[in-house]
Amino acid sequence: MAGIVIYGSQYGTARQYAEELAGRTGHEALPYGSVGDINQYDTIAYVGALYAGGVLGMKRTFAKLQSCEGKTVVIATVGLADPTDSQNVSSISNGMAKQLPAKLLQAAHVFHLRGGIDYSKLGFKHKTMMRLLHGKAQSLPEEEKTAEVRAMLNTYGKQVSFVDFDALDPLVAVLGQSRGVLPLDRS
Ligand SMILES: Cc1cc2nc3c(=O)[nH]c(=O)nc-3n(C[C@H](O)[C@H](O)[C@H](O)COP(=O)(O)O)c2cc1C
Repeated sequence: MAGIVIYGSQYGTARQYAEELAGRTGHEALPYGSVGDINQYDTIAYVGALYAGGVLGMKRTFAKLQSCEGKTVVIATVGLADPTDSQNVSSISNGMAKQLPAKLLQAAHVFHLRGGIDYSKLGFKHKTMMRLLHGKAQSLPEEEKTAEVRAMLNTYGKQVSFVDFDALDPLVAVLGQSRGVLPLDRS
């Protein structure tokens, strides 16, 4: 059964997760721009960074998938905002629903991971976007500050990493099952 870990990463945090996941599952990790025919894989894990609510490279990657029938698809988003915050998760889910066909989204195992940011590494466009967002966020009343806004305010201008490889355990479990290496039938 052929499997792959594909990632969409601008500054490396999603790539770190993808490479760790690849190491733990025995699959190859590739950036989304370097994947050949996605249809040859039975198991597809996509690890993508969140940018303005969208998952980097995800739409373009899965647009090439003819059918998800019989395949194991795992999708993990990587963002700065707290992935245990229900409002944040529902806003990520809404974004994903705009990027993927409903059938694929239903079939996929979806996870949300926390990434990081290093302002000294941001490109001009991203720095400018963050400066504008920060300016707006500062003036928001406390009750209107979402997890996304709070994460941005708390980390603005800094270098922070919330990367936590233990958060990959449930993904490894799903991917392991798809390869038939995990199931321990105790019945
Ligand atoms: C312009 C910009 C927009 C972002 N938008 C979001 C967002 O909508 N939600 C979120 O949780 N994090 C957002 N982030 C934070 C990134 O998702 C986070 O830094 C992630 O770890 C980046 O992954 P990468 O290092 O693989 O590129 C944004 C960061 C930048 C610079």
